[in-house]
Amino acid sequence: MSFRSPSAEAELPDGGRKGRLTRLGCRFALLASMTIVFSVSARAQEKGGLEAKLQYCKTCHGLSGQGYLGYFPMPRLAGQQPEYIEAQLRAFIERRRTNPIMFNVAHVLSPAQISALANHFHHLNPPPFGGAPRGAASLGKKIYDEGLPESNVPACSACHGTTGHGQNEIPRLAGQLYPYMVGQLTGWTKQRGQGTAVDTSAIMAPTAHNLTRSQIEAVAAYVSDLH
Ligand code: HEC
Ligand code: HEC
Repeated sequence: MSFRSPSAEAELPDGGRKGRLTRLGCRFALLASMTIVFSVSARAQEKGGLEAKLQYCKTCHGLSGQGYLGYFPMPRLAGQQPEYIEAQLRAFIERRRTNPIMFNVAHVLSPAQISALANHFHHLNPPPFGGAPRGAASLGKKIYDEGLPESNVPACSACHGTTGHGQNEIPRLAGQLYPYMVGQLTGWTKQRGQGTAVDTSAIMAPTAHNLTRSQIEAVAAYVSDLH
C-alpha cells in the first residue's frame, strides 16, 4: 500500500525521509482520531439502537411491559425472568418456537441487546391486567397448588413457585394475560419444540397435554390475577 504519490516525494528538500515521516505521523494521528470518533459514534448508535428497540417492543407488549389484549394477545414481559426471556428470544430466532412476528423482531437483535432488553423488562412491575373470568379461579388455585394426580398433572407451584414468579428458565406466570396463557397451553406442541433437538419446552409438554380446556381456563384465570 502506498502512502504518498511519487510527485509529492520529488518536492521534499531532504530527499523525502523527514517529510515522509511527518506525513506518516499526520496520517496516523488522523487515523487514530477518526477511530476514536467512529467508536464513540458506534457506541452512541448502539445505545440509540437499544432505546429504539425497546420502544418497538413496547408498541406491542405495552408501555410498562404489562401486555396487550387485542386480536393477538401480547404477553406480559414485566417482571419476567431474564433467563426465560433470553431463552425464548433464542427459540424464536432458531425457529424452535415458531412465530413469524417474533422471528422478525428477534433475529436482528445482538446478544448484548437481548440481555439488555431481558434485564429491562425484568425490572418493570405494573399491576396485573386482570379481566379473566373468575368463576373457576378456586379450581385453578387447587390445580396450581396441588396438581391433578388422577390426570398426571403436577402442581404448577413445584416449578413456577408458590407465588408464580418462576425462576431462571421457568417463566413467571403471575399477572400473565389470560387469553395468551390459554392459547399457549392449548397449542403447546404446535408452536414450541419444533427443532430437532429437545429443548426446555419438553418439560411442559406432558402437563399442557394432560390438562383439559376447562382446567386450562381455570388455572390461567387464577394465575393471571397473581401479583
Ligand atoms: C408487532 C408486535 C410485537 C413486537 C414489536 C414485539 N413483540 Fe414480542 N411478542 C409478540 C407476540 C404476538 C408474542 C406472542 C407469540 C406467541 O403467540 O407465542 C410475543 C412474544 C414474546 C416473548 C415470549 C413471551 C413469553 O411469555 O413466552 C418475548 C420474550 C418477546 N415477545 C419479547 C419481545 C421483545 C424483547 C421485543 C422487542 C425487541 C418484542 N417482543 C417485540 C409481538 C410483538
Ligand atoms: C416440571 C416443571 C414444571 C411444571 C410442574 C409446570 N411447568 Fe409450566 N413451564 C415449565 C418450563 C420449563 C416452561 C418454559 C418452557 C419453554 O422453555 O418453552 C414452562 C412454561 C409454561 C407456560 C408458558 C408461559 C409463557 O409465558 O409463555 C405456561 C402458561 C405454563 N408453563 C403453565 C403451567 C401450569 C398451568 C402448570 C401446572 C398445571 C405448569 N406450568 C407446571 C416448567 C414447569
